[in-house]
Amino acid sequence: MKLFIDSADPTEIAKLAESGLVDGVTTNPSLAAKTGLDYVEALKSICASVAGPISAEVLSTDTEGMVSEGKRFAKIAKNIAIKVPLTWDGMKACRQLANAGLMVNVTLCFSPVQAMMAAKAGASFISPFIGRLDDVGHDGMALIHEIRTIYDNYDFKTQILAASIRGVPHVRNAALAGADIATIPPDVFKSLLNHPLTDKGLAAFLADAKKAGVRIREE
Ligand code: E4P
Repeated sequence: MKLFIDSADPTEIAKLAESGLVDGVTTNPSLAAKTGLDYVEALKSICASVAGPISAEVLSTDTEGMVSEGKRFAKIAKNIAIKVPLTWDGMKACRQLANAGLMVNVTLCFSPVQAMMAAKAGASFISPFIGRLDDVGHDGMALIHEIRTIYDNYDFKTQILAASIRGVPHVRNAALAGADIATIPPDVFKSLLNHPLTDKGLAAFLADAKKAGVRIREE
């Protein structure tokens, strides 16, 4: 499973990318607003620190505006994926941008049929929002399972990008459900390795080695 960072903060992203485990980044207008930085400048520096797809979301709601903003984003770097909303205008923009050879991430997906339509429009990525569905009493993970089945039934190549992730269990369950990618907020990403038995086990190994004077000799 590929792991993306769900953030628009270039400094935070660059630090996490040092792990060598960051495969891409998703941004959105709300995340961009939080940074207080110019969106395009922030995207430029994110593209310089992560080689994988970097999603940049359009602000226009009509097809022509989305395509023109998308093409402007695409000039930033080769790894830009243009993020468009799951609307009829968004579908038309997706088709045009995909036909121009650009990666498109269709966002704000809340139903399996929406995901099927995005795949038919040529999306490289579909972003089902798990956490927001859970918030309103629905089963976000069921959506990932249903999209996986539909995409496999018809051999759609669109990658399922599990979004609106709220914790490690979402990452685990999205991986089990066959999502291709999870986009993860920085704090959740940092907690992916946490396990009390790992900490306890390491402390015991080091204490035993110290007590017995175990050393690793230099050659
Ligand atoms: C996805 O690309 C979105 O940026 C994101 O996952 C939305 O998550 P939220 O529901 O935490 O805002």
